[in-house]
Amino acid sequence: SNPSILILAGDGIGPEVMDEVKKIITWYGDKRGLAFDVTEDLVGGAAYDAHGVPLTDETMAKAQEVDAVMLGAVGGPKYDVLDFSVKPERGLLRLRKEMDLFANLRPAQCFDALADFSSLKKDLVAGLDIMIVRELTSGVYFGQPRGIFEENGERVGLNTQRYTESEIARVARSAFELAKRRDNRVTSVEKANVMESGILWREVVTAIRDAEYPEIELSHMYADNCAMQLVRRPKQFDVILTDNLFGDILSDCAAMLTGSLGMLPSASLGAPMANGRPKAMYEPVHGSAPDIAGQGKANPIACILSFAMALRYSFDQGDEATRLEKAVEKVLADGVRTADLMGPEGGTPVSTTEMGAKILA
Ligand code: NAI
Ligand code: MG
Repeated sequence: SNPSILILAGDGIGPEVMDEVKKIITWYGDKRGLAFDVTEDLVGGAAYDAHGVPLTDETMAKAQEVDAVMLGAVGGPKYDVLDFSVKPERGLLRLRKEMDLFANLRPAQCFDALADFSSLKKDLVAGLDIMIVRELTSGVYFGQPRGIFEENGERVGLNTQRYTESEIARVARSAFELAKRRDNRVTSVEKANVMESGILWREVVTAIRDAEYPEIELSHMYADNCAMQLVRRPKQFDVILTDNLFGDILSDCAAMLTGSLGMLPSASLGAPMANGRPKAMYEPVHGSAPDIAGQGKANPIACILSFAMALRYSFDQGDEATRLEKAVEKVLADGVRTADLMGPEGGTPVSTTEMGAKILA
């Protein structure tokens, strides 16, 4: 049977950018003999409007069965007044939690045609290609105990950074597997100088490398130094492996080395399923962009590059993923720009569908 994809386009520009991905998926079936079984469903505000919850149990069950979930974006001002328990973001969090997507892959890749957009000098970022692997389901965002409580007559806010050996080991394996397909180099990032969780992190990552990935060159770096190195000489990195909190910050920092939010894809991977493929969800980094929703202005490239990641990591179609990435590169080199990619020199931006059509062509 064909590999299966569940499309959850979501809210705002989510459905607009996802439409361009759907055309590409259809093209693969028609023109390259690579057919996918695609189903579509609701998430976020769209699901709330239809069902009163941001993700139904039925949709959750479908997500668990398919080979990959493609998600657009969720949220919008209309839903800001909702109770926390039914906010659109909760749909996304439920997917990540119940699919146990512990490895978040955030590439920071600079297309030469957009190097002028970087917050850094062009020669520092031209050709940049980093992959940050962020642990996504544990660490200080989830650790117990947590809360705000009274102590000695004043309030204390408490969160707990906590990692088990097995949580570190599984995300380390994801990073090493990734490094095998790239440059065989991993930089593991923590603060072992001041945190016990960092000491354990370093120990476990090193032991996994020694026992299972002797061919990988592993180095260690403190998170504060990594932040500095990312803006000083980003091309020194290939795969960066780090925890939830540091990964959150460092991946946003790395993202801005490459330009627009409209360009950034991501993948979230979990444990292998019975067929050997990892549980997986692919989504652009950006949100639902209510300020431009419904105007045909959204850049579909982040969502298209997320599908390229699906081709590579869920469907073993690395060559086709590269083909798609090269198409994006070519279109950008030809000067085709959505509004978010317009420089100070101006020009005429293309629409979401025009950008999608150029890439497909
Ligand atoms: P946002 O990413 O939606 O937008 C930030 C800015 O970037 C806006 O000016 C927007 O127009 C622009 N932008 C974003 N994606 C673009 C694209 N593909 N093409 C062109 N321009 C693009 O973040 P914001 O404004 O903070 O949040 C808006 C809504 O999205 C909120 O409800 C928020 O909760 C939600 N959100 C959802 C996320 C998700 O579904 N994963 C992630 C971030 C925010
Ligand atoms: Mg962040």
